[in-house]
Amino acid sequence: MLESLDHETALALLEWQIELGATEAIGEGPVDRFAESAAARAARPATLSPAVPEAPPARAPRQSRPATPQRDGESAGDAVAEARALAAAAPDLAALREAMAGYGHCELKKGARNLVFADGQPGARVMIVGEAPGREEDQRGLPFVGRAGRLLDLMFGAIGMSRAAPDPAKALYITNILPWRPPQNRDPSPEEIAMMLPFVERHVALADPDFLVLMGNISCQALLGRKGITRLRGNWQTVFGRPALPMFHPAFLLRNPVCKRESWSDLLLLQSRLEGR
Ligand code: URA
Repeated sequence: MLESLDHETALALLEWQIELGATEAIGEGPVDRFAESAAARAARPATLSPAVPEAPPARAPRQSRPATPQRDGESAGDAVAEARALAAAAPDLAALREAMAGYGHCELKKGARNLVFADGQPGARVMIVGEAPGREEDQRGLPFVGRAGRLLDLMFGAIGMSRAAPDPAKALYITNILPWRPPQNRDPSPEEIAMMLPFVERHVALADPDFLVLMGNISCQALLGRKGITRLRGNWQTVFGRPALPMFHPAFLLRNPVCKRESWSDLLLLQSRLEGR
């Protein structure tokens, strides 16, 4: 089938994959090709002539999302318990960042270029919690700096707020549920969310915002235990004892621009709460 693809079709397929988030030719985990070919050599019958060209090693089955991302011999409970202990021991944001950088249970760390901790002003009245870094965020080590991030800046700019504003009433503080980029921007697994959640809780406590904005379904799943952003958005919730507003993720808005109307109404809702109305 592949030989019959013309140039335009191949390009369209590639663009479609990029649109889905498959922006890099990487797998879920590292593959040791040397070990694979050594195993294939060992399995070859001893009578085989060395002149016979080596058959290509059998391709490892494509891995889907890891069911148990914790290290061998450890339970998911160990990973969460260690995250809780590390997070609780962090007295400030710098220490929390260090604790996360040293946390070894999340496999995503191995494939990421950078830990993406936060951006904006700690102490801002509004803290945005997104999903996970994408390609540009992973490269730069900052949340929401790609296309979706530029839209996020425009959206909040429309109500006079920005990550650079020195005034806490106009400032934003931004983080994600996961600090490491999932391969090919796949959704985080429940296990990955569970082990990183204690760090998010401590992050919120240390940044101490008046309001949280839950950007998109993954953030709602992690912090409310519920998905269904179309019904959740625009309705105030309580997360870690603070008012939290679910909103459409800007990446979703890029694909569904008609929904920007609802997001504008959510921004006005947030603005009126900030102004005590
Ligand atoms: N999407 C997110 O949820 N977070 C980022 O940092 C970038 C894109």
